[in-house]
Amino acid sequence: MIPQSFIQDLLARVDIVDVVGKYVQLKKGGANYMGLCPFHNEKSPSFTVSPTKQFYHCFGCGAHGSSIGFLMEYSGLSYVDAIRDLAQNNGMIVPEEDRLLPAQRAEVQAKSLALSDVMTRASDYYKQQLRGAPQAIAYLKKRGLTGEIAARFGLGFAPDAWDGLRSVFLDYAAPSLVEAGLVIDKTDDDGAHRKRYDRFRDRVMFPIRNTKGQVIAFGGRIMEQGEPKYLNSPETPLFQKGLELYGLFEARQAIREAGYVLVTEGYMDVVALAQMGFPQSVATLGTACTSTHVQKLLRQTDHVVFSFDGDAAGRRAARRALDACLPHINDDKVIKFLFLPAEHDPDSFIREFGADAFDQEVRDAMPLSQFLVREVVGDNDLNSAEGRAKTQFDAKPLLQLMPASGLRLQIVRHLAQLTQTTPAEIETLFDLVQPVARHKLAPPKSRRNAPVGLERQIMRILVAHPSLSAMLDGEVLAAAAVLAPDGAAMLAQLVEFAQEMGESAQFAALADRLRQSGSDFDALIAEVAEQTESELDVVRLELAGAIRQVRLQVLRSELDALVVGGLRDPLAVARYREILQLQEGLRKQAELEAAQR
Ligand code: UTP
Ligand code: MN
Repeated sequence: MIPQSFIQDLLARVDIVDVVGKYVQLKKGGANYMGLCPFHNEKSPSFTVSPTKQFYHCFGCGAHGSSIGFLMEYSGLSYVDAIRDLAQNNGMIVPEEDRLLPAQRAEVQAKSLALSDVMTRASDYYKQQLRGAPQAIAYLKKRGLTGEIAARFGLGFAPDAWDGLRSVFLDYAAPSLVEAGLVIDKTDDDGAHRKRYDRFRDRVMFPIRNTKGQVIAFGGRIMEQGEPKYLNSPETPLFQKGLELYGLFEARQAIREAGYVLVTEGYMDVVALAQMGFPQSVATLGTACTSTHVQKLLRQTDHVVFSFDGDAAGRRAARRALDACLPHINDDKVIKFLFLPAEHDPDSFIREFGADAFDQEVRDAMPLSQFLVREVVGDNDLNSAEGRAKTQFDAKPLLQLMPASGLRLQIVRHLAQLTQTTPAEIETLFDLVQPVARHKLAPPKSRRNAPVGLERQIMRILVAHPSLSAMLDGEVLAAAAVLAPDGAAMLAQLVEFAQEMGESAQFAALADRLRQSGSDFDALIAEVAEQTESELDVVRLELAGAIRQVRLQVLRSELDALVVGGLRDPLAVARYREILQLQEGLRKQAELEAAQR
């Protein structure tokens, strides 16, 4: 965990106008800055950045967040990576969660900087070598690529030499070269004599970039027949195969424009598709699609189309992707599976049948729900009790992976129909969390618990001005809980977070914290992002008023209860008098404050 205090310091130091301004052209308009929203297509600006709130908000699509949130949305970084990125650009060092000493930390950072420098230089070298390699150029041409596309993906060529990189690095014996996976150290049988040589020789080079655009690995393709067809960088401190997607950096803008991302299996597919008018393509790197991949993709877009070969291997790969997607299912996300004819990958398909035919395939891709049902039904005989039971058996682990959602309910319904049961029976049988069908008459959870009236007013003020949370003590919280039991937990959590952040607490940092905690404050955050700002003193009075109202209302109902009880015992009478006095005190205070305004 990165300490909350560091995140607060960081957000206090960076200016969101600079952060967003790097990517979006902003113009000053009143107190805020305006620009074209990078998260949806628009012609006139409805995207605003508030320097006082240190928050962005789009009136068109509702996107909003802090500097950290912006980097996550825009660059597809994780929360921690976004913080690291911001910190690095502002000369701050993130206190790491692990137990590294500052000196060690500096060393790790220096090392990854050095590796990334080594990779950039190697990539430049391979690119430059491609220009002087007619056979490699001919190969790429034969595969239908133009120079423009080759340049966009930074394709290169590793010459047929054992130590080509010696001309790039003054110190060919440097340890960083082997750490970067660019060279291989061969030890003789006696273990004494070492010989070093280039990993990549006589291959067309595909640089793999991270979402920041830094080269972190390479894939090298052999031009003739031979093994392996693709040679890849080993895992290094910069590169973990199961986490990266080839082409994501290059595709980001296109994904936004197309409204979806196309996930393929190969380097060549990505490059060829970009060449043929589908620049919104990425590829897993010869590994099964992981949950991390899906998470990364869904940070860029809410519409993912996976493409697989139509053969058994493709089907298996699709099944892995399905499993990886299920935990991330959400009703505003669309995930589809495209099955190409056997023997075809996207590259060969589009070359043979053309871009229109491929586009049609994308549009006809199979929705996840349909693929899931097809998978679990499989060869089971739905006309027999055993076949239906087996179908349910096969469906259980998949449905258990899905969060409660409208889509899960749809699938449950469909399965119920196919297996001659009811949706509620399926949910019970499968032990599904938060069954949807069983409670389908109740309004959605977030709305049911949505605080109303006074409590909501208090929460809105606290989200906007967390430093005012000191005004709420345990007694007020208890009173609020009596008044609106549904929202009590939310209010208590909000107050706890805000009070922990102390006097310097700001809206943007709190908004990030609430979002990270996974609690349902998004509607409130959006409301605050939209509202125009008021003076802190005015807000303080407003909050004091709301707190007083809470107290008064609770006293009022206690008083009513006493009266209904008949005021027979002396304790009740004493309390009755006490309440009258308390009420009087609160009203006087209100008059005083009104005079201050
Ligand atoms: P494919 O064999 O489908 O390759 O492997 P491809 O992308 O269609 O390549 P071309 O069209 O023959 O040039 C799919 C992916 O699996 C990984 C690579 O990431 C490749 O793009 N792979 C495959 C390897 O890493 N090594 C290999 O030897 C083969
Ligand atoms: Mn291919």
